[in-house]
Amino acid sequence: MCGIVGYVGDRLGVPIALKCLSALEYRGYDSAGVAYIDNGKIYTEKRVGKLVNLYNSLKNKIIPSSCAIGHTRWATHGEPNKNNAHPQTDCNGILAVVHNGIIENFDSIKQDLIAKGVKFNSDTDTEVFAQLLAYNLCAKLMHNTMHNTAHNTIKFSKKTIIKALNKTIQQCEGAYAVAIVVAGIDDCIFFAKNKSPLIIGKGEEESYLASDTPALLGFANKFYSIKDGELGYIEKNKIVVFNDNLENVKIKFQQITIKTEQVMLGEFKHFMHKEIEQGASSIIETIDRIKKLKVLQKIPPKIFEDKFNLHITACGTALHAGLIAKYIIENQLRVPVDLDYASEFRYKKPILDAHSVCLFISQSGETADTLSCVELAKQKGATTIAFTNVPASRMESIVDFVVPTGAGPEIAVASTKAYLAQLAALYAFIEYLAIILKKEIKFNCGMIKNLALKYSHQDYTKVLDDIVEEIKNEESIYFIGRGVDYLLALEGALKLKEISYIHCEALPAGELKHGSLALINNNSFVVAVLTQSNLIEKTLNNIHELNSRGAKVILISPFTNLENFVYKQIYIPNVNDLLTPFVAMKPLQTLAYKVSISKNLDPDKPRNLAKSVTVE
Ligand code: M6R
Repeated sequence: MCGIVGYVGDRLGVPIALKCLSALEYRGYDSAGVAYIDNGKIYTEKRVGKLVNLYNSLKNKIIPSSCAIGHTRWATHGEPNKNNAHPQTDCNGILAVVHNGIIENFDSIKQDLIAKGVKFNSDTDTEVFAQLLAYNLCAKLMHNTMHNTAHNTIKFSKKTIIKALNKTIQQCEGAYAVAIVVAGIDDCIFFAKNKSPLIIGKGEEESYLASDTPALLGFANKFYSIKDGELGYIEKNKIVVFNDNLENVKIKFQQITIKTEQVMLGEFKHFMHKEIEQGASSIIETIDRIKKLKVLQKIPPKIFEDKFNLHITACGTALHAGLIAKYIIENQLRVPVDLDYASEFRYKKPILDAHSVCLFISQSGETADTLSCVELAKQKGATTIAFTNVPASRMESIVDFVVPTGAGPEIAVASTKAYLAQLAALYAFIEYLAIILKKEIKFNCGMIKNLALKYSHQDYTKVLDDIVEEIKNEESIYFIGRGVDYLLALEGALKLKEISYIHCEALPAGELKHGSLALINNNSFVVAVLTQSNLIEKTLNNIHELNSRGAKVILISPFTNLENFVYKQIYIPNVNDLLTPFVAMKPLQTLAYKVSISKNLDPDKPRNLAKSVTVE
């Protein structure tokens, strides 16, 4: 997590760094800071809390620097205070570092440096990186018998800095994307990357670094996704990249076009609301893109011959999309699918070999847990296929095949339109698999597109008003369903809990009586999802069990004649049983959004969470 940016060019760097940071705030908002160079000297400005605090502290200042780095923090080491905010500097003010990732061996390095007389000012692993880099630079200097000179007045050559940076990253274990400014070098930003995302952006007479491409929207149009182990520097008209042997790397820029309105709120108050409303268009765009680019046809049918075994791995909402895919593949194609949380998969010694086909689902393409599973699958010789939403993400660069989702930039931390795009991409994949396996399925992508078009204007904001008022102060809300409905309940519960801070738990409806029914009383609210025509009676029985204990059941269902058995029903379109996920999620997402705003919370930036979880 954490977002980092860097700017070097002819314009004032700090306002540009702030602007780019605003598009990265979804990655963390515990504190924010910038460092810039003016006349060879490094200055930093940091504030605790959201970026607006930093922005307000700088808005009346004109800072004559055209080289700046910036950071928005999701705290991992040390509480969110000013000392722990980035940029972190060394004790001599030689350099400033912004960092995304975790230096796992920071403590042993820190103890070693303390023993050598280095003074620390924060609890962060990033300061350890800054101090170690400065130490490595100065050690070289002392070796050259220049130690009488004040360190922060010495001008290091770029070559010396790169060598010291390379030494530093060899000494650090873990994940990092770092941008560094060094005193005495006014128009240059150094960088290094391992496992955390870092992109170089190129504009006219200016160069950028950022954690993702949307951060550079309107500033750069050519991008290079820095590879693990690479390091180098950017200047306004020069980009230099080395591999870990310090050999020059020839880089190829990729042109990516993102429209401004995609990352603006427009008529909406919150990105989450805008993105819920974009659900239908992201389904359509995903299917169109997959068909147009013929991405599925690039996956060779021969990998699905003989003894192939399918695995799905993801986290959070992406995993919930994967659960639906597993259900449909098993139900329709009769092919078994293993599915695991990415954080569990890598430590369970998964059974993988050259016959394994592993599907990885990730909006960001940067989730550390999922990425580590991709690496593991590759080591075992499996075929890897990623379903990702962010172009040029790390996952895209390391898998065998990419199936892009077309949700466009998703800014709100709670994933909504990306979930629907993931479903659309997975259903397209299932359609392709059915053709290869010569099996019949009862849907096709055309049907999904039609359905998205037909119901795109379905609006649940008004019908949910009363319910929102009633449930907003609840401590716990249960979600139930059977089959696909249980999988939808899981996602509905995740949505509500992450932005309302109400404890929400989803259960297979039939499991209630095996324990959780003990928690139900006449104050309980239960959201029941019922979209599967063959399960009406079964789920209704569970609703009766809840009613008998006094629970108030809110039913999300297209079926009529059920209203009398529940406290309130929200009607959804009646569609093919296999396609209900495309229409049932909107009321669940809208419910979560409305509860969050009714509690005066920020649905786009829930506490303790970040959009891309780039640490394990
Ligand atoms: O970028 P990814 O899809 O890999 O992210 C996975 C989860 O972190 C993400 O879906 C998370 O659960 C969302 N906050 C849910 O709304």
